[in-house]
Amino acid sequence: MVILREHSDAPLRPNDPALYERLADEWWSPRGSFAMLHWLAAARAELVPPATRQGAVLVDLGCGGGLMAPHVRGKGYHHIGVDTSPSAIRQAADHGVLAVRGDVTALPLRDGCADVVAAGEILEHVEDLPRAVAEACRLLRPDGLLVLDTLADTALCRALAIGVAERVPKMAPRGVHDPELLVDRIELARECARHGVRLQVRGVRPSLRGVAAWLARRRETVPMVPISSTAVLFQGRGRRTAGGSPGATRAAAHPGHVGRAAAEG
Ligand SMILES: C[S@@+](CC[C@H](N)C(=O)[O-])C[C@H]1O[C@@H](n2cnc3c(N)ncnc32)[C@H](O)[C@@H]1O
Repeated sequence: MVILREHSDAPLRPNDPALYERLADEWWSPRGSFAMLHWLAAARAELVPPATRQGAVLVDLGCGGGLMAPHVRGKGYHHIGVDTSPSAIRQAADHGVLAVRGDVTALPLRDGCADVVAAGEILEHVEDLPRAVAEACRLLRPDGLLVLDTLADTALCRALAIGVAERVPKMAPRGVHDPELLVDRIELARECARHGVRLQVRGVRPSLRGVAAWLARRRETVPMVPISSTAVLFQGRGRRTAGGSPGATRAAAHPGHVGRAAAEG
């Protein structure tokens, strides 16, 4: 496969989409710039149950190179991916994803088309979080499932996920995150609730033993483990009820609800 590269070495602004063209040939390298995305894709897929009906659809927002594909294959979904990066969607397609070019804030898909919407490591890249959440929820069928992982808008997250991780080779590409776009957990839960999804969240981090084994090249991937704090990296999961309700919005906006480690069983 020929990948069209963005050849300039000019510095990029934080969260510049051109970064994904520069790093296009690293998507599927388990030790490349996107290594941690492989670990997160596996953890995200664990939140997705097997499909319960013929023709079930999983929509993968900001699908990148399609790293979730091997982990959801066999669960019975048509896997549709949406991404703005031309090189990423080509690679997602090569891995069995029906990949379309599009923006997660204006999705080219019809209302209620999805049994599952996955938003992995995408919400911290969008400028209009409410719009992206509204679009994700719009795609869900009644009782459809939203799964996500993203980075929290906290000083600790800025220090670890940007200050440290972007300086350690292969942890995260330099400049991939704009600190202004980290996700406010209260706002995220409130927006989900507005659209009928009561989000439950839990913090996750890479297993330290797993990282040690990965660094020593004894294994190619690292398990993510749940933790009580959602202050850095967290997963969310929630089903869409028939419609949002003011009560659900108020409950989700309460800090105690969002901070609790409680992934739906
Ligand atoms: C950090 S990567 C995550 C990729 C994938 N979800 C994963 O976890 O492997 C972010 C992806 O989102 C895409 N992206 C960023 N902004 C987007 C937008 N507004 N609409 C659609 N895709 C977007 C990028 O091109 C990139 O592929």
